[in-house]
Amino acid sequence: MISIREINEKDIDLCYELDSNSISLWSKKQWAKEFKKKGIKVFGLLISNLVIGICVFHVILDEAQINFFVVDEKYREKGFGSHLMNYLIKKCKKLKITKLFLEVSHTNITAERFYNRFNFSTVGIRKNYYRDGSDALLKEKKLTTK
Ligand SMILES: CC(C)(COP(=O)(O)OP(=O)(O)OC[C@H]1O[C@@H](n2cnc3c(N)ncnc32)[C@H](O)[C@@H]1OP(=O)(O)O)[C@@H](O)C(=O)NCCC(=O)NCCS
Repeated sequence: MISIREINEKDIDLCYELDSNSISLWSKKQWAKEFKKKGIKVFGLLISNLVIGICVFHVILDEAQINFFVVDEKYREKGFGSHLMNYLIKKCKKLKITKLFLEVSHTNITAERFYNRFNFSTVGIRKNYYRDGSDALLKEKKLTTK
């Protein structure tokens, strides 16, 4: 059975492990810092008790940002990422969020296609933003609260 639940700091090892095995975005220290930020919610996508996806969602007034979004490699291309994204979009509507932002490397074609499918549009570029020298595309999805 698929479910989504909030993850708290005691499950930081799970987050760090999924991150290390996928996009290697943050160290454990950076994960700890992320959990402490005001307005942060970490959501886990589970099959039974197994966490197969994680998303870090940051609400700032009437806007929100996705700081991390990963589905375990073994479970990709099966609709799980879409399930998690649809959950976030519903959450945004409930919270009356008007804009949802994220950053993605211009080399990450899979993620770009995924986000485009949810009508995120590119609104800015941060040159040489990532450690590998790639640019970050700043993407935005406008939301209506109706
Ligand atoms: C991006 C990611 C979250 C997508 O998760 P997923 O569970 O595989 O996505 P879904 O199965 O719901 O796919 C939804 C759509 O995304 C696109 N997509 C997903 N994987 C794709 C691939 N390998 N190639 C091209 N398009 C792809 C397709 O449009 C797909 O729709 P379709 O099945 O109708 O063609 C997943 O690939 C991932 O975790 N990637 C590594 C982490 C990452 O890059 N995160 C983003 C960093 S900001």
